[in-house]
Amino acid sequence: MRKRMIAGNWKMNKTYTEGVVLAQELADELAGKTGDVDVVVCPPAVDLKGVGTVIEQKSAPMALGAQNVYWEESGAYTGETAPDMLTNVGCSYCIIGHSERRDYFGETDEDVNKKAKALLAHDIVPISCCGESLEVREAGKHVEFVVDQIRKDTEGLEISDPSRYVIAYEPIWAIGTGKTATADDAQEVCGAIRATLVDVFGEETAAGIRILYGGSAKPDNIAGFLEKEDVDGALVGGASLKADSFAAMVISAAE
Ligand code: PGA
Repeated sequence: MRKRMIAGNWKMNKTYTEGVVLAQELADELAGKTGDVDVVVCPPAVDLKGVGTVIEQKSAPMALGAQNVYWEESGAYTGETAPDMLTNVGCSYCIIGHSERRDYFGETDEDVNKKAKALLAHDIVPISCCGESLEVREAGKHVEFVVDQIRKDTEGLEISDPSRYVIAYEPIWAIGTGKTATADDAQEVCGAIRATLVDVFGEETAAGIRILYGGSAKPDNIAGFLEKEDVDGALVGGASLKADSFAAMVISAAE
């Protein structure tokens, strides 16, 4: 059985000080309430150590994730962060291929694939994002588009433990817009992702990989997504920036 996952993507929000406060609030709100749900928080890089320290000191039921990584071990890559650096500050997850990184920073499927390989080699769980634009959706090509992304992003990956590779389906038109996909829209694409994973990795591995939905997920719509067969959780942006709304989503997933 796949464990549900609720992951918070703070994006470029929260200073170090604000991040520490949010982590403390989350630790208090979530204590004893996460059930069998994997909770992950992904703050900006400069907040990682501070948030990680709160998690450790409060034995908070959540794990630390980064929002980006570079695939080299070290060296002259100004502004980048290596996998070992993430591990060293307590990260066990890392988002890759988010549509904002693809759109604003030119991240390609080839980059996403290299990042996934580097993370897996360092025992960090990738949360690998995919999703179509409104234009692609309106042309009715969304399934085809996402399946193609998945094939490229997973090429040559060796997954020994399927619980340690996560996919997030985030239709770009639903991110930060308040416009959610319906639960049926999410299932249509997540089901196609699962079928592609069967093709790439075989039945057993595909059955163990978590697929999250992302895009204006909130406390009042999360339950509908989680009812769907191939939706195993959510990657949450806006609603992860307040302890009460993020905790409400975790609690709903734990029910
Ligand atoms: P949103 O962002 O929940 O604010 O739509 C989701 C994401 O981009 O991960």
